[in-house]
Amino acid sequence: MVSSISSSSHPSPGSSSSSSSSSSLPSNVTRLPASVTDLVSCVSHEIMVIENELDQQTQHDIISERKLRTTDEERLLEDAIDDGFMCVDLKVLERKLKAWHRLFSPAFDNNNNDNDNNYEPSSYNYTVTPYFAVKCNPDACVVEWLARTASMMNLPLGYDCASIAELELAKAQIQKYSLEETDGGIDKKKRNNIPTTRIVYANPQRAEADLMHALELFATTPSHSQSKELELWLTLDGVEEVYKIATARKLFLEKHHACDALRMPNVKIVLRIWVPDGHSQVPLGEKFGMRMEEIDNVVEACLNHGIIADDIIGISYHCGSGCSSVETYLEALEMGRKALTRIDDRLTRHYREEEEEETDIQEKKVQKLDESQQKQYKRHRCWLLDMGGGFPGIDGLDGDDNRFSADAKKEVKETTDTSMPATTQQTATTTTTTTTVADIAMAVRPVLQSLTNINDKDENDSSSLPLTLIAEPGRYFVEGAIALASRIYQKQQVNDPNDDSNKIREYRIPHGVQGVFKDVLLCGESFIPQPLQIIEGQSNDLDDPATHADDQQDSSKQESPPKLYLSRVLGPSGDDTEDVVCDSCLLPELDVGDWLVFDRMGAYTLSIASRAGRPVMRYVRGDSSSPLSSPM
Ligand SMILES: Cc1ncc(COP(=O)(O)O)c(C=O)c1O
Repeated sequence: MVSSISSSSHPSPGSSSSSSSSSSLPSNVTRLPASVTDLVSCVSHEIMVIENELDQQTQHDIISERKLRTTDEERLLEDAIDDGFMCVDLKVLERKLKAWHRLFSPAFDNNNNDNDNNYEPSSYNYTVTPYFAVKCNPDACVVEWLARTASMMNLPLGYDCASIAELELAKAQIQKYSLEETDGGIDKKKRNNIPTTRIVYANPQRAEADLMHALELFATTPSHSQSKELELWLTLDGVEEVYKIATARKLFLEKHHACDALRMPNVKIVLRIWVPDGHSQVPLGEKFGMRMEEIDNVVEACLNHGIIADDIIGISYHCGSGCSSVETYLEALEMGRKALTRIDDRLTRHYREEEEEETDIQEKKVQKLDESQQKQYKRHRCWLLDMGGGFPGIDGLDGDDNRFSADAKKEVKETTDTSMPATTQQTATTTTTTTTVADIAMAVRPVLQSLTNINDKDENDSSSLPLTLIAEPGRYFVEGAIALASRIYQKQQVNDPNDDSNKIREYRIPHGVQGVFKDVLLCGESFIPQPLQIIEGQSNDLDDPATHADDQQDSSKQESPPKLYLSRVLGPSGDDTEDVVCDSCLLPELDVGDWLVFDRMGAYTLSIASRAGRPVMRYVRGDSSSPLSSPM
């Protein structure tokens, strides 16, 4: 029998599409038994689970005398065994969300929201709502699991979407897991820092047709209650995008005016600014973000093209994916603060000009304004600061060591301002490749607090106004939550060009750089495989603890460690110079049919691979003590 948590619904695993009513959660989530203590044993166990499911399907076919027609479910199981699969540890997603709020939302700790952690109330009382960057991993189950976790844990969560497909996916979750449940239980005053709009369309450069589609997706109908209306937050970083938005709105009005079935959604504008991103794995600054001196121009264009000043709500930026420099985050915040002031100043001038124009007209009708009368002009106040993404995926904290493991009791290293080791605190202001998310969170705390400090409010200084803070972490949530198990289908030995007497073992697997390993080409990422040899005749009785104990003893009895050989791992394209997954690593002697396991495969793997190149998805979960392990 298979050890699993069952779901009430049966979506197709591996599919990333969704509809607003259906569930994307998998029908089976493997609950990891105690014998599973690391990634390799997890994958090994999951292979047994898949084989077991296949056996059950075959038995079922025989009993029901069904014709030998392969069902979709069987085909996926066969693909998983023949080629390999992505193994998702759902527990990691839960831990990451919890850890995010512990680090970036001190308001929650002050409210003792989390019973596991009785921290001293701190003077920090802001929240930074994470908007998961769907582009980083658009697997529908991952996206829904995050929404479900947020809802069950009462923790705020939104989505950063870059395409219409992502908007549809995110919108379905937002509607399913309602807003009211995510106030985090914190008091009303602090809650005003948590946005009720949970989606940002954060690709600042879109096709006109996509903008039109987005307007339709967020449009309301005359029967819509106002509280259910979704705002559409659009980021933009240049005047071209302003023109496109104007055209899309015009087209929308032309198309829907006559029948009045759809009403224009409430569109809010977020200006994306350029910040330095040189310390990231994937710098995108060359492509996205306006410079400080361009802001006035873009604001001007907005005003001239039907966007009203009140709808320009704030700024966003992105330090580049995998940003390892704390200073970059601090510098970006400072630039963000300046940009907000600049936008506010420009728009305040706009209000004044409008009012003066109005006054001129009035004056002609009535008497001249008393010179001594001080006119109070309306000030514009941006209220949103979006810190973007870039946060490291694995930093050794908050259960990173427990990934793909059943062992909930292993000590989980957590970090807050009070518990953080002194050495980590010292590194918080220095550039280091081992920067943790905690380092970043601690370094930015005073700045975020000053931005959200209502008590320091200075009417003339927009930078001291309370801001709503959001971020767009992608890699942070998913990088360590997903591994790839890939099966060797070809092996050969080639001469080592550096040593005539040596041979290199070349292993070919069905996943390559045109698929989930595209990051090898895009940013020189390297993926080192771990070998997994399935011993012939190994028992696959999943529920018998004795089996696992025996297995473990057997493997520990294995004499000396196996000899290692210089090896290369190649993808399926046949191009041995281009499709190189791992150019050089040490592996034991492996054969066709053996498995290679790749860790940290959650970020920019599924999203980059074409749909056809995506492996089957399998979902596991350890730590049965968590309330989230209850049936879905
Ligand atoms: C605008 C924006 N926000 C967020 C992200 C997510 O970045 P990361 O996965 O590094 O957190 C990206 C990715 O490049 C991005 O372009």
